[in-house]
Amino acid sequence: MNQEFLKIKNISGEFELPGDKSISHRALIFSAMADGKSTIKNLADSVDVKTTAECLKNIGVKFESDSGNLIVHGVGFKGFNKPDEALYCGNSGTTARLLSGLFAAQDFSTILKGDESLSKRPMKRIIEPLEMMGCKIESNSGTLPLKIKPVDNLKSINYELPVASAQVKSAILLAGLHLNEITTVIELKETRDHTERMLNLTVEKYSDKIIIPVSKKNYPEHGEFFVPGDISSAAYFIVLTLLSKNSSLVLKNVSINKTRTAYLYLLKQMGADISIIQKGNSYNEPLGDVIVKSSGLKNIEIDSAIIPLIIDEIPILTIAGIFAEGEFVIRNAKELRIKESDRINSICVNLKTAGLNIEEFDDGFSVNGNIEKGSKIFKSFNDHRIAMSFAVLSSLIDDDCVVENFECVSISNPKFLEQLKSVADFS
Ligand code: S3P
Repeated sequence: MNQEFLKIKNISGEFELPGDKSISHRALIFSAMADGKSTIKNLADSVDVKTTAECLKNIGVKFESDSGNLIVHGVGFKGFNKPDEALYCGNSGTTARLLSGLFAAQDFSTILKGDESLSKRPMKRIIEPLEMMGCKIESNSGTLPLKIKPVDNLKSINYELPVASAQVKSAILLAGLHLNEITTVIELKETRDHTERMLNLTVEKYSDKIIIPVSKKNYPEHGEFFVPGDISSAAYFIVLTLLSKNSSLVLKNVSINKTRTAYLYLLKQMGADISIIQKGNSYNEPLGDVIVKSSGLKNIEIDSAIIPLIIDEIPILTIAGIFAEGEFVIRNAKELRIKESDRINSICVNLKTAGLNIEEFDDGFSVNGNIEKGSKIFKSFNDHRIAMSFAVLSSLIDDDCVVENFECVSISNPKFLEQLKSVADFS
């Protein structure tokens, strides 16, 4: 589906977003592992999260819906059933990588496969540490499909992450939850910490290292989760509001976990009028309201230490950057090349379509210049975050623009267009 976007005059109002995608995946997996019934409120309605639920259904987990909430009947320690066929992880790296950690510790073998994009993404990063734990995994030269075989002698490890990845960290921690001995993951660069928070792990920080121990003692228990609104889905509306004249927007009850809000602090440093009001906690996950007003922005140098914390928001930060004073530069972000699309390439191709001056590097890009007049057709590259970022750009410029294959937004936010219409004035 090719989606046309008209220029938006301004943005106003408030709304609540469905639950955060990363927290939703974990709420489902931990509830399925726990012994007993859990209730998940405000679960993400994204296709990726549905994919995780479907995989869990295929290993014997029962779900019911109850007044908009999801009831999960957890099976308890190693209570899962062998699936009848290969489990399909769709487009979702989080599903494939987190479930690999869970399956490494089961008494049956499992095959994980994915769509064309996921089948190209690197799985060696989880295979290596899981094999160090004694796990036996067959792969297609380090990519999906993976066959994870049962072993009797899974052992704990101390593992320093060679790549800053919350998915790799979580895969190891999930396997480690099945062992009496302590498994330790060491991070040199901070990444999103939902797994640690939701499992209530005691994390230690020594100078520049984050040390995360886990063992069977931390095995999840059943309970009630409220999933805070998705702060990454909020980013598109936040940038659109900042860059539209006479605009203001309140996003209610979103996740304000510090490992996710780095992009808000970056925008604030660029001059954005953004206030964050903490309202509470749900399973150690802070949530609150984010209030945004139109602002003039100035590009600044982006510290490489925050790249893993803003990795999903770089496409939409680029849109903020092209309207900000000065040149927008991203470096040290090679990980962008192995997301749902090669996001460095996807961004550069579309920015060239807009007539901007681009320099593409192996680990990033720089952009300056002015957007050329005339209608444009942007490519989504079947990547939800590219589609939404260029929908925002299209809504900010005078000429009508189209984003191709826009349906991929449902990977994280199927209601994007509805939400946009609810706060946008096109007159
Ligand atoms: C995620 C971790 C990040 C992020 C992805 C979700 C998670 O991936 O980009 O959208 O939920 O753990 P990496 O671990 O590959 O950096």
